[in-house]
Amino acid sequence: MAKSRVQFICQNCGSVHTRWAGKCDACGEWNTLIEEGTSGGIGAGPASTRSARKGRAVVLTSLSGDIEDAPRIASGIGELDRATGGGFVRGSALLVGGDPGIGKSTLLTQAAAALARQGHRIVYVSGEEAVAQIRLRAQRLGVADSPVELAAETNVEDILATIAEGRRPDLLILDSIQTLWTDMADSAPGTVTQVRASAQAMIRYAKSTGAAIVLVGHVTKEGQIAGPRVVEHMVDGVLYFEGEGGHHYRILRTVKNRFGPTDEIGVFEMSDKGLREVSNPSELFLGERSTKAPGAAVFAGMEGTRPVLVEIQALVAPSPLGTPRRAVVGWDSSRLSMILAVLEAHCGIRFAQHDVYLNVAGGYRISEPAADLAVAAALVSSLTGLALPADCVYFGEISLSGAVRPVAHAQQRLKEAEKLGFGQAVLPTGSGEIAGAMASRSFLPGALVDLVAKIAG
Ligand code: TYD
Ligand code: MG
Repeated sequence: MAKSRVQFICQNCGSVHTRWAGKCDACGEWNTLIEEGTSGGIGAGPASTRSARKGRAVVLTSLSGDIEDAPRIASGIGELDRATGGGFVRGSALLVGGDPGIGKSTLLTQAAAALARQGHRIVYVSGEEAVAQIRLRAQRLGVADSPVELAAETNVEDILATIAEGRRPDLLILDSIQTLWTDMADSAPGTVTQVRASAQAMIRYAKSTGAAIVLVGHVTKEGQIAGPRVVEHMVDGVLYFEGEGGHHYRILRTVKNRFGPTDEIGVFEMSDKGLREVSNPSELFLGERSTKAPGAAVFAGMEGTRPVLVEIQALVAPSPLGTPRRAVVGWDSSRLSMILAVLEAHCGIRFAQHDVYLNVAGGYRISEPAADLAVAAALVSSLTGLALPADCVYFGEISLSGAVRPVAHAQQRLKEAEKLGFGQAVLPTGSGEIAGAMASRSFLPGALVDLVAKIAG
């Protein structure tokens, strides 16, 4: 069978097409198919040149010794170590993704400097900046005196040859995966084939030597830049660095972790001297709160093992339009529609003539259904013009029947609220015993309609 010489690869999802099309069948994205060579892509070359090598099987129980000495390399930057689950794991690959300019290089420069000071061999390979530029950033961050080894390289084979000198690095940072290219693939740098082949070569290096590697990947909202998505399933861990324009804080979110929990976040603040750890995010998110305005409710949320308090703001205003507007920032818009429907159907509150805007303060993003109760409280408060008590927190899931359902970690949420000076809570029944001063002033509605009645007085 004759092989076709060209193929088209979707730069968003990596699927291979034999013919060009405007839209990728696999992921539905438009204008993402790019022509790439078919040399077989990765590890290409005549099949006959490689002879089979005999492997070795080991008994699981004989490995117990190895596991103890497969340690993590903790950076000492608490929020970063929290997100990685205790530090970088030797012999593993971690992808750090995020929008351009969000602070990935800054974070990794700081981590590299901290680790190098501990005596680890850290190599920082940049394909985007010259060594002088990296040094300039390090100076700004106050870490220029740290013995991190810098290299400005983009070819995988050159990088491997460079680091082969001296002892094996403990951590190798590759900034960014989009700039890497390998002789093994013949597509242009930045294409899916190159990104995948380069990542594979570097991951193979990590597994065979026991060095930890970090791959930096730029992601754009349009998904136009190839890379991170196709690398995600090849690496052991994926962290996303997020933040909103106009806000100084950044969140490092664990999306995948073969060696630890996946629901942790690290919180940082970008300052003129680099990223600063924020060990109590609630204080940050509640920072600029005005307590007397209607439409604001404080949600007691959880991020992994850590409680986070954040203000939810609603604005319900009469609409001049036939079809009123619904706009949400920081929460799920279909979840908002559901809460509005439940308020209409079970509590007799009509929003059909009103525009509804919902905002999570500070540009923070909530994914928990436990925010339902706080959202409902904020909506009712805004519609009625009655401010909620300033020292009250809300959490609980609302079902389509209008019932308020218990959520996990009620005690931790309450404890955090109490620590930050809140004196009362609205939470689902069945949340367990409420300890301390909050017990007498808390309200446990069985149904949403009970809360509505309480707010409306
Ligand atoms: P950078 O780490 O280069 O982003 P990325 O590698 O994700 O593309 O960060 C760039 C931004 O961070 C830039 O807008 C400037 C800002 N910044 C500071 O505010 N303070 C600092 O100390 C540094 C080094 C950068
Ligand atoms: Mg960068």
